[in-house]
Amino acid sequence: MQTGLRGRSLISDLDFSKEEVETVLDVAWDLKAKRAMGLPHAYLRDKTLAMLFFFSSTRTRGSFESGIAQLGGHGAFIDSKVTQIAHGDTEKELGEIFGRYFDGIAIRHVTWGVGNRYLNLVKEASRAPILNMQCEDYHPFQCLADLMTIQEKKGRDLRKKKIVVSWAYAESYRKPNSVANSLILQLPRFGADVVLAHPPEFNLKPEFIEEAKALAKRYGGAFTMTDDMEEAIKDADVVYAKSWGPMMTTTTEEEAIEITRKYSSWITDEKKMALARPDAIYMHPLPAERDVEVTSAVMDGPNSVVFDQAENRLHAQKAVMALTMC
Ligand code: CP
Repeated sequence: MQTGLRGRSLISDLDFSKEEVETVLDVAWDLKAKRAMGLPHAYLRDKTLAMLFFFSSTRTRGSFESGIAQLGGHGAFIDSKVTQIAHGDTEKELGEIFGRYFDGIAIRHVTWGVGNRYLNLVKEASRAPILNMQCEDYHPFQCLADLMTIQEKKGRDLRKKKIVVSWAYAESYRKPNSVANSLILQLPRFGADVVLAHPPEFNLKPEFIEEAKALAKRYGGAFTMTDDMEEAIKDADVVYAKSWGPMMTTTTEEEAIEITRKYSSWITDEKKMALARPDAIYMHPLPAERDVEVTSAVMDGPNSVVFDQAENRLHAQKAVMALTMC
């Protein structure tokens, strides 16, 4: 167990070592059990968390706000639109000032080419840890909950488990590719055989691909890529299929829509799930576009773990807050 997390920020998934992530999960399971038994666990009494959102959220807001309250502290929901950020508050000012008001600053800023830089500039100026509630590159708290869920369903030893991270078709808007990035960076450290599947135009940043390959080599897992969703899903233990935008190919909305429309067959349906192992689990961070991105039969079917996965956001985030904001 590595316990030196007090005051540490979590912006990239790799900001915490593998052992530190294992510590987070140990604490998360303990907190989950305590909540199940109704045992008090107010480890952050009188502590406060700023929750600054530049983009909408259901799960992230709900789980952070509830989580900090369950730990005995208080979370302040702050919509960027009602702040003075548009009128001149800089990242430095926000970090300096909120770092003095709050014991942690959680930020969601997913704008392509802007969000991650914003978080890191606030971190440079803040005396309180920065928690990444999703930027365009990483969604580390989603990934911790995902890892926790996979280990709950498949056992803690993920070596030789085939985990498919696949693009899926969706229509509503071009989603960040941060969930896929986080998964391909975190899961190889746990020895899993990670398969990334996406149509050619939906590639991820090359530096993340290279890092995933290096981590797989170092930790004895595997990392492979394909542009065939069905081929990827064959014999999978975990099918994690979600949409993201073709930002590496184009940032023009009309062009992105045109490219995306070519791949409406990339829906997770029962036929595709039948290619996976019979006990395979279906995962999605939500929100999902029902019967576009995934069929309701899969989403509500026996292999789906999406609600356990969403629940684990609460426990994983409480663990990180308890370890970093104490
Ligand atoms: N999975 C996730 O981050 O959900 P929200 O966008 O609703 O927070």
